[in-house]
Amino acid sequence: MSKKPVRVAVTGAAGQIGYALLFRIASGEMLGKDQPVILQLLEIPDEKAQKALKGVMMELEDCAFPLLAGMEAHSDAKAAFKDTDYALLVGARPRGPGMERADLLAANAQIFTAQGKALNESASRNVKVLVVGNPANTNAYIAMKSAPDLPRENFTAMLRLDHNRALSQIAAKTGKPVASIKKLCVWGNHSPTMYADYRFATIDGASVKDMINDHAWNKDVFLPTVGKRGAAIIEARGLSSAASAANAAIDHMRDWALGTNGEWVTMGVPSNGEYGIPKDVMFGYPVTCEGGKYKIVEGLPIDAFSQECINKTLAELQGEQDGVKHLL
Ligand code: NAD
Ligand code: LMR
Repeated sequence: MSKKPVRVAVTGAAGQIGYALLFRIASGEMLGKDQPVILQLLEIPDEKAQKALKGVMMELEDCAFPLLAGMEAHSDAKAAFKDTDYALLVGARPRGPGMERADLLAANAQIFTAQGKALNESASRNVKVLVVGNPANTNAYIAMKSAPDLPRENFTAMLRLDHNRALSQIAAKTGKPVASIKKLCVWGNHSPTMYADYRFATIDGASVKDMINDHAWNKDVFLPTVGKRGAAIIEARGLSSAASAANAAIDHMRDWALGTNGEWVTMGVPSNGEYGIPKDVMFGYPVTCEGGKYKIVEGLPIDAFSQECINKTLAELQGEQDGVKHLL
């Protein structure tokens, strides 16, 4: 094992996503089977949470992962983020039955202001930050704005679960394997307003749009199914999605760190004005990744229906941003 260990901070480490995430990070599924990791785990100071975190760490120990080069438990964000190369901000209050994401805004804004500041003070200057905790885009925006000394492009929000959900729905509709679907993307907010867009998608070189050729299915079945999938999972499980969310976080970080070989994936990233989205709005875009950097796919044509969808999700994001302005 010749590579130097990298530091991976995970917040909300004793929560349900944490439990589905940490073992996969430690086994090398996120950063590669040759990359040792040191886990820096953050939980709230609450005795029960810290005790649960200890239990998770005992289990990690019991896996004897060859790549797990160290583990730390923290209740202070600045200590947890010390020199960290990757930060997965999962800890937040999850949505319960009947709650909308907007309800979570105020409670979570405070968490992400504090964590943005802590990253600013103690993380590696190259830290790659993924915000999973909801409302993910706005929380990522808050963290980015609270960390003025870190490059803004280091902050991202998780849209990958929406992307993966859309892939599966298209695979089911076309009867083709998920892996054969290329150039799918999801625009906007991780919320029911997200716009999953298969206009550019191909399967074995053929257009998915032509294959499906059904605008009513797109509008009335596909988009609501993907957009409301989080609520459907909550309704079914009584708990929000966890294993699929952890899987999406692994996909997001792996692709960002190791590259996508030219394939498109979806990431929530701060806009530089692409597609008319105002600067700094944390927006889901099609991206490709190479050499540890993501690049927004530019120059795609936006038709009237797509523009309408993009406007709607943008308006929601701007409303969320307005709601937290006073905290920044
Ligand atoms: P959970 O309640 O099981 O776990 C959250 C954990 O975070 C708890 O252990 C809690 O103690 C901890 N926590 C709370 N505040 C914290 C803080 N300030 N610092 C550190 N830890 C803190 O929740 P979960 O099911 O693991 O979900 C976590 C978040 O992820 C929720 O906001 C949920 O809505 C969100 N989520 C996002 C996506 C997405 O696609 N972006 C998907 C699923 C879930
Ligand atoms: C999801 O999409 O599954 C999560 O964001 C949970 C939620 O609140 O919808």
